[in-house]
Amino acid sequence: MIREVRSEEDVLAARHAVRAAAVVAGLDLIGQTKIVTAASEMGRNAYVHGGGGTMVITELVGPGGRRGLRLAVTDRGPGIFDVEAALVDGFSTCAGLGHGLGGTRRLVDEFSIDTAVGEGTTVTVVRWVA
Ligand SMILES: Nc1ncnc2c1ncn2[C@@H]1O[C@H](COP(=O)(O)OP(=O)(O)O)[C@@H](O)[C@H]1O
Ligand SMILES: [Mg+2]
Repeated sequence: MIREVRSEEDVLAARHAVRAAAVVAGLDLIGQTKIVTAASEMGRNAYVHGGGGTMVITELVGPGGRRGLRLAVTDRGPGIFDVEAALVDGFSTCAGLGHGLGGTRRLVDEFSIDTAVGEGTTVTVVRWVA
């Protein structure tokens, strides 16, 4: 499933879509809440910092049949100049709280950032069934 994230309304709609997908994937309530929160931060970053983007929501089946949910949020914005700095709590280039990226990393089992200055950013996360 793919969703546009270009506004606060889109982020809200994406949250609902992620919650529904997390239920289908078999995540428990804690897992659902964590990946929904991650989706909010990733979606908000894509439209606040990246000028809007897309969220791809994919149900996974891992080794041994373990199920999970992957979110990949991509934008064609300015990219992240210093990824390590951006992950530090409290770091924000726009007077945000600066807990979005670092917080997101703590909420999921797998986390990666693919970014290039002037080209854009993709943040990918996976939360597996506990
Ligand atoms: N998609 C993105 N494109 C460009 N820069 C980004 C993106 N996501 C995050 N950043 C950079 O990383 C910083 C930290 O992000 P975050 O932890 O979510 O804090 P906040 O959004 O509150 O500023 C942002 O201030 C911004 O400079
Ligand atoms: Mg943020």
